[in-house]
Amino acid sequence: MSEFPMRIGSVELPSPFAVAPMAGMTDSAFRRLVKRLGGCGLVVTEMVSSEGLVRGIDRTLEYAEYTEEERPISIQIFGGDPEKMAAAAQIVEGMGADIVDVNMGCPVPKIAKHNAGCSLMREPQHAASVIGAMAKAVKIPVTVKMRAGWNDQDRNAPTLAKMVQDAGAAAVAVHGRTAAQSYSGAADWDLVARIADAIRIPVFGSGDCVEPEQIVDKLRAGVEGVLVGRGVLRNPWILAQAEDLAEGRPMRRVSMQERGQFLLDYIELLQHERVDDSRATSHDRWVVNKLRALATYYTKGFENGSHLRTAINTAQSLSEVRELIAGFFFAPVVATADTCSAAL
Ligand SMILES: Cc1cc2nc3c(=O)[nH]c(=O)nc-3n(C[C@H](O)[C@H](O)[C@H](O)COP(=O)(O)O)c2cc1C
Repeated sequence: MSEFPMRIGSVELPSPFAVAPMAGMTDSAFRRLVKRLGGCGLVVTEMVSSEGLVRGIDRTLEYAEYTEEERPISIQIFGGDPEKMAAAAQIVEGMGADIVDVNMGCPVPKIAKHNAGCSLMREPQHAASVIGAMAKAVKIPVTVKMRAGWNDQDRNAPTLAKMVQDAGAAAVAVHGRTAAQSYSGAADWDLVARIADAIRIPVFGSGDCVEPEQIVDKLRAGVEGVLVGRGVLRNPWILAQAEDLAEGRPMRRVSMQERGQFLLDYIELLQHERVDDSRATSHDRWVVNKLRALATYYTKGFENGSHLRTAINTAQSLSEVRELIAGFFFAPVVATADTCSAAL
């Protein structure tokens, strides 16, 4: 296992397990709730446009907002222009973030075509110059999140990881799939472990951890930290459960009521968020849409979870969503926590 507690530059992480950045999902409310459950060493925002930060666009700034209880907090930015990325890093530093992370993994054409996201992996020299410019511009650690490579012919994460380290990156995270794979196939954790072995800075692995045991196994296989994405959306307790296992305690059990309460608490926090309501017709509608997005993942592994998902997707109001949650999670116990936790 890695040195513990681990550090990224001067930032100490209370646990090597972290919430992966997920656009549309890892908003401040969600991050706060996961943090409160324990076991979470780091949270990362949704990706934020460097262009939008530099131009001071309200909606971009909204994505970068966080609360004190989320610390240590990493703000992930995307972009491909070294000067703009350096200026955006200074803005992130000015906002008080602990870490600024660079997205070199997003395969979505809208991002990749602007010489950002995973397309930076196709130009490693340029990618390293982006990191070099940022590292010179700020005192907080600059980190990089990348994929295994652009495609099977170009699995260059080992080379790029070394290059960004030499350019000043304080840590890297590697999702062990190529951009061409998107989310198909399996994440290549052997590749991630080889990178961790070859470079000095901490390496986080990412991909396919949906059970707490898998998180602990990956850590023991040689990375310094594990980023968990979809597994946290299915089961926000997964990092706390992994920490239990890593520290030799029995893994905590989570009741149906607790799982339901998480969703109600999420609604409550979202209702108090400052958002640009032009994204939806009303604030309540925006909250319903957020719940729909989370329900896609959260309802997996429950008996009749697909029914709940469909019902939330067709619900007409926030009060209807609340009633559906109450009926599913708080009704006289049909599925017990034990029967569903095996599947989660
Ligand atoms: C809905 C969704 C949104 C994502 N958004 C981002 C993002 O904004 N930045 C990023 O670096 N990775 C993003 N990812 C990738 C995840 O951080 C993670 O590397 C990937 O999902 C593999 O890990 P997992 O199997 O634990 O989900 C996203 C993944 C999902 C499922």
